[in-house]
Amino acid sequence: MNDCVIETQMLTKRYGSTTVVNNVSIHVKRGRIYGLLGRNGAGKTTTMKMILGLSAISSGEVRLFGESLKKNERKLYPRIGSIIETPGFYPHLTGTENLQIFARIRGTIKQNAVQEALKTVGLPYDDKKPFSSYSLGMKQRLGIANAILNDPELLILDEPTNGLDPIGIAEVRAFIRSLSEEYGKTILISSHILTEIALLADDIGILHHGNLLEENTMADLEKKNQKYIHIQVTSQSLAAQVLERVLHTNNYTAEADNSMRIYDTGIDLVELNKALVSVGAGVSTIQICSDNLEDYFKKITGGVGIE
Ligand SMILES: Nc1ncnc2c1ncn2[C@@H]1O[C@H](COP(=O)(O)OP(=O)(O)O)[C@@H](O)[C@H]1O
Ligand SMILES: [Mg+2]
Repeated sequence: MNDCVIETQMLTKRYGSTTVVNNVSIHVKRGRIYGLLGRNGAGKTTTMKMILGLSAISSGEVRLFGESLKKNERKLYPRIGSIIETPGFYPHLTGTENLQIFARIRGTIKQNAVQEALKTVGLPYDDKKPFSSYSLGMKQRLGIANAILNDPELLILDEPTNGLDPIGIAEVRAFIRSLSEEYGKTILISSHILTEIALLADDIGILHHGNLLEENTMADLEKKNQKYIHIQVTSQSLAAQVLERVLHTNNYTAEADNSMRIYDTGIDLVELNKALVSVGAGVSTIQICSDNLEDYFKKITGGVGIE
């Protein structure tokens, strides 16, 4: 795939004889939000840690910004900001003081880096409040501020809304979206909550027991989950003729078992049935169906769902 900011090739992590990430190949494209979705224990954090060099790779490869990570770490890592687990902030210092320490460690040269990062996440610069009295939402924001201190092109955020209340979640979501839309950042984000990923991500990768079950655009997934008329006929070619010539639609797909899906749900079922029967297309099923995303995930994860 072209223009991948992150590309993993058959990335694998084994602990002894247990494989926790199994041949995972993900493609995170420039300027997009990629949601890695999976239940607890699916391997999301481990995958991110391998990308960030925080966990040794058992086999496979990581490519960042089109280059192999191996031997290029020093050059590539400064272009990435991340939150994996809680960053070690000092409880008795303010947010500003904490970020100043991190800025110094990283050698952030830009004069206003701390001030700007705080502004971006909506935290005050000259607040006297120590980190220990921050709300969880503020702590998460400070973590994100820390991740964007160097103005990185790529952000890797491991469950950044974990533990937040619904308002906090909505705020962080809006803010992550603005990083993508206004600042053009590429973002890899993980979550175990389907709706969160569905609301935020442009692309999605579904991880289940260490395996990437699906990688797709959100738009395509939504298309898979829209309403449709399901028909079963004895002749798909006759039915296709009816759809195109009589009902003037080509918005349908032919599936296995002589099934067809017609996405033009404005079509009247009685009319459709009459037209199909009149050409001898032998209708055995005709009904309106809708799969929602949740059903779909249940299906591909073997019926257990995501949460
Ligand atoms: N250091 C470790 N040693 C052994 N197993 C581990 C270690 N770290 C993680 N695991 C296992 O790897 C699997 C994936 O964990 P993780 O990547 O944290 O999943 P997720 O972030 O999707 O919840 C889990 O079964 C976890 O128990
Ligand atoms: Mg995790």
